[in-house]
Amino acid sequence: MNEASDAEQNAAAYRILLEALARRRAQARGGGGARVLAKHRERGKLFVRERIDALLDPGSPFLELAQLAGDGQHEGVPPGAGMVTGIGQVSGRQCMIIANDATVKGGTYFGITCKKHVRAQEIAWMHRLPCITLVDSGGAFLPDQAKIFPDAGQFGSIFYQQVRMSAEGIGQIAVVMGACTAGGAYIPALADELVIVRGQGFMYLGGPQLTQAATGEQVDPETLGGALMHSRTSGVSDHLAADDVDALAITRRLVSHLGDWPARRWQIAPPRSPRLDPNEIYGLISRDARHPSENREILLRLVDDSDFDEFKPLYGDTLMCGFARINGFRVGVLANRGVLFTESGNKAAHFIDLCCKRDIPLLFLADVTGFMVGREVEQQGIAKAGARFITAMASANVPKYTVITGGSYGAGYLAMCGRAFRPHAIFMWPNARAAIMGPEQAATTLALVREQILARGGEQWSDAEREAFKQPIRDEYERFADAFNFASNLWVDGVIDPLETRQTLTLLLDAAARTPREETRFGVFRM
Ligand code: COA
Repeated sequence: MNEASDAEQNAAAYRILLEALARRRAQARGGGGARVLAKHRERGKLFVRERIDALLDPGSPFLELAQLAGDGQHEGVPPGAGMVTGIGQVSGRQCMIIANDATVKGGTYFGITCKKHVRAQEIAWMHRLPCITLVDSGGAFLPDQAKIFPDAGQFGSIFYQQVRMSAEGIGQIAVVMGACTAGGAYIPALADELVIVRGQGFMYLGGPQLTQAATGEQVDPETLGGALMHSRTSGVSDHLAADDVDALAITRRLVSHLGDWPARRWQIAPPRSPRLDPNEIYGLISRDARHPSENREILLRLVDDSDFDEFKPLYGDTLMCGFARINGFRVGVLANRGVLFTESGNKAAHFIDLCCKRDIPLLFLADVTGFMVGREVEQQGIAKAGARFITAMASANVPKYTVITGGSYGAGYLAMCGRAFRPHAIFMWPNARAAIMGPEQAATTLALVREQILARGGEQWSDAEREAFKQPIRDEYERFADAFNFASNLWVDGVIDPLETRQTLTLLLDAAARTPREETRFGVFRM
């Protein structure tokens, strides 16, 4: 088969993945569906996405995060978990926008909604972005309390992070646009400044029904927690708006009073498009997980002018390290080209140290089956090299971004700045997969363990029995590793089309540029 037709077949396989992405995104954009949306509009309310449009500077980009969170997790709940989050420009300044979608179960919080809100705050905190929360939520989705109430990372963390960000001078603005109950009321109550919509926004720790049940008091919503009451009597609200449009206009003014926007800490070169056509990336991503993708060629199509200045190109070459620019922003890139060896681990640690000393953000492009195993490498001390890589990456106090471009497995996934290492953001391409190991390895490992146990009892498996044991494991590992599963569980911040990668990173790097430089102190390097 010639090369061109191979690329065409890859690209054709990719189109199917992009269609799946488009389908899921369309579902997410639809919110709770036409019937509930009609009811929502009858109440004079704008749909959550219209609210965000009205809030943003006209024509400015909006980087939506976690758009597919919760996909398939709750009956009748579309991808997005009843909330829209993302980074957008308001009054000339990048902000994190967190907005309930009241057309999905009254905007109530499932466990995954809490996780999405908490993650949006984390990204805001790391980039020091003001948070604008458009609140329209009945609080906790009560049947899901185990995932909402008791643990860190759940609802309580939303409050904690609001307070800590406020203490650090990261602006917190809330707009009450619907009936906000319990947790839904504490979110605005904990904001620095609060806008409420007349006749439409309500805030109470206990709604009229709960109040009656608890104390016997019968009280109408307006008296209990209406906009006028909170603006005139309780003083909970700071700004009274006539309707959604007015509330969002007020919010834009509030952003303009947040104080000066810090200057960028890096010099930005004039942005340049890649010299090699990024559209060719689709043909370079292998359609068959058993065959590696052409990662060097892919990388060249992601960076400005296709210019990648490689560090130690002849040493540890299964990991490419080097400097490049994304729309003018300098990044230190680590990108896989095969399994990680001792040399590649050492090289990564050295390169990360360079980037930290020079205050250059790190970009991890992950496509890695893991670290090499076997006697030879163990005797070389690959455990030390892996530990050095992980120590350098975990210690690095420069902004870190991860894009999983292929299969990212085991300790390789972790070393390439997996979710646990607090990347400033982490995305997957639709073809990407991640798991503790590949499906075949997992099935074989578990079958070997089982066979040893059987052998102790003097039993043996037939080939058919072994296969019957292995197939469900393979299937489960396949399902687990899927990029859309990672997005649904919020183990990544989104699934992006490869062609969206540059724009996504640009927006984030632009935000990171306005954060103060932090020194890195490395953990002990085991030599
Ligand atoms: N937990 C679980 N489900 C809830 C819920 C909650 N706290 N609040 C609302 N829902 C569900 C409803 O059962 C309904 O489900 P359905 O679509 O399967 O029929 C859906 O969300 C929409 O509710 P509905 O009352 O029809 O919408 P609304 O827009 O008229 O009102 C609320 C939304 C949130 C204002 C209203 O439902 C309410 O007051 N809920 C109770 C809020 C509360 O007491 N929360 C305490 C949390 S600690």
